[in-house]
Amino acid sequence: MRNKMKYQVAFLGCESWEEDYILNKLSDKNISKISFFPVLSKISDFKKIIDFSIVSGFINSTFNEKHFSLLPNLKFLSTRSTGYDHIDLIAAKKYGIKVSNVPLYGANTVAEHTFALLLALARKIYPSITRTKQSNFSLDNLRGFDLKGKSIGIIGTGSIGAHVVRLAHGFQMKILLYDIYKNRSLAKKYQANYVSLRQLLSRSDIITLHVPYNKKTHHLINQANIKLLKPGSYIINTSRGGLIETKALLKALVSGQLAGAGLDVLEEEGLIKEEIQLLDRQASREKLNTLLHDHILLKFDNVIVTPHNAFNSEEALRRILDTTIENIKSFIAGRPINIVN
Ligand code: NAI
Repeated sequence: MRNKMKYQVAFLGCESWEEDYILNKLSDKNISKISFFPVLSKISDFKKIIDFSIVSGFINSTFNEKHFSLLPNLKFLSTRSTGYDHIDLIAAKKYGIKVSNVPLYGANTVAEHTFALLLALARKIYPSITRTKQSNFSLDNLRGFDLKGKSIGIIGTGSIGAHVVRLAHGFQMKILLYDIYKNRSLAKKYQANYVSLRQLLSRSDIITLHVPYNKKTHHLINQANIKLLKPGSYIINTSRGGLIETKALLKALVSGQLAGAGLDVLEEEGLIKEEIQLLDRQASREKLNTLLHDHILLKFDNVIVTPHNAFNSEEALRRILDTTIENIKSFIAGRPINIVN
């Protein structure tokens, strides 16, 4: 029965090479139309995709109950990301919409970016380059530290965290792990030890986060437990901004408890990217407060921020598109894969 239905597929926020790639690979006799739209930022934009039964967006395409109520034909939402905290899964279920993600496109990609941030902090790469661009070759305040022998605390040992373990082992670091599920064979192979979150925070020279963002992990690092950190430690976050309470992070950086932070993600990064929209939109005092803290963070010399770019390698993007195309084809064939709700 399902196969007789013709599907219209809408892609949101693709680059032009991605559009060509998709058109080339996503041929299916049950698809009657494939269309591309920019990211839908205003609620009124959603009428553009009202006819579509399949929609694919990235993390900048938020979907909540209000959006679903405007899309009566939507059956399948295929996010081109691993994380799906930008989609209200409970509302999707209520509207009978299946949601899929791309679970395994970039374990190495995000882990490599994690080390790019860590090495940049450890070897003061950003100030070094800024200085030499100005023909200044002084070494003042550019002394870094070795990774070899340092303790790295890895929070979340799923696909990305496990790859961070492999890289950390290559750098001859001491490895502490925290996860609700323990990957014993990984720990054994790389001489790593699972400890409690408290122990990890108090014993690590460097902490890196690789858990998903949800109600349970909201502010996993917060004003209460950030005090446990080793004085002068570093934190890296390539997962989601909301895992760290920004206010607590700022305080720890000001007090020197944290010597630095490497962040690919910021709490309320959606707002910071589209600040101009705040002129038309109501944002809660709490969100505006976090935004202010983000702006202060960006100015710190010992904080380096990349614009949620950890996923962004050529190889990873192709893998994302391949899996998204498979997700859509499988859904149409009545055998949905990578479903998260
Ligand atoms: P994964 O699902 O393979 O691993 C997540 C791990 O976190 C699992 O081992 C799970 O047991 C653990 N976990 C879940 N809840 C926990 C809790 N409350 N306490 C302790 N551990 C918990 O996910 P993967 O592929 O490693 O990705 C991790 C996150 O990285 C994604 O959820 C996403 O937010 C982020 N990400 C960021 C990207 C970027 O461009 N910056 C790109 C891709 C993913």
